[in-house]
Amino acid sequence: MTKEQANSSPVNYWLNNKWRWLRTQWQSFRHPVGSVDFGNLRRVTPISREFGYDRGLPIDRYYVDKFLTTYADDIRGRVLEIGDDSYTRQFGGDRVTTRDVLHVKGNNPIATYVGDLTNADHIPSDTFDCFILTQTLHLVYDYRLALQTIYRILKPGGVLLATFPGISHICNDEWAEYWCWSFTSLSSKQLFAEFFPKENVQIQTHGNVLAAIAFLQGLSVQELSPKELDFGDRQYEVLITVRAMKPED
Ligand SMILES: C[S@@+](CC[C@H](N)C(=O)[O-])C[C@H]1O[C@@H](n2cnc3c(N)ncnc32)[C@H](O)[C@@H]1O
Repeated sequence: MTKEQANSSPVNYWLNNKWRWLRTQWQSFRHPVGSVDFGNLRRVTPISREFGYDRGLPIDRYYVDKFLTTYADDIRGRVLEIGDDSYTRQFGGDRVTTRDVLHVKGNNPIATYVGDLTNADHIPSDTFDCFILTQTLHLVYDYRLALQTIYRILKPGGVLLATFPGISHICNDEWAEYWCWSFTSLSSKQLFAEFFPKENVQIQTHGNVLAAIAFLQGLSVQELSPKELDFGDRQYEVLITVRAMKPED
């Protein structure tokens, strides 16, 4: 009998249901309804609406930093970043030969390209060794067109490093009117496989229930311990990170 057959047998189905029921009973015994102490969190408005910037480092940025640290070696050669070049400088160091910046509006003095990723014929094909696309994909209504452009402008062998929200509130700055989406690891996996060979795509999720609540309340990294931040729970995807490589010719 294969593992799949064993898991789908009626006995296993019954055992799984029983186990789920027992777990639920245990949870309501440990935390009876009405006994939860909400403390400072019993409020219908958040502690802060600034994503944690007013209290320290935002929790999603902790995960962005971890992801870029892991894949820092990919940040090399000619690098395109969205909005500014701070991650290129911080993580690319002297591996980077050219820093480019793409901004959707014409008001950014450090932008070397101005344009919308869904309509960017002016950005040359097969050009970038690395594209750092942090906290942007959810702002693009037609994200498939954006990914088509990204794939086109990466060099063969070039790498996209992308991060975007899973569980998040919506910002209250100039990007609020652009904010369209949240993703899951599954939707990301299927989406990126439409453009990149699936063996070239690595998807990770970051977060847990405490990190999610703290993030939604606008608390900062400084208010949780590294152990609390690093605990990963697949049911609480605060941030999704993707490394995707365009195949060599
Ligand atoms: C919140 S910033 C994210 C990038 C920034 N480096 C960061 O990590 O916070 C939002 C960025 O999304 C970009 N953006 C929004 N819609 C876009 C689009 N359709 N095409 C290209 N960029 C877009 C803007 O240019 C802006 O720099």
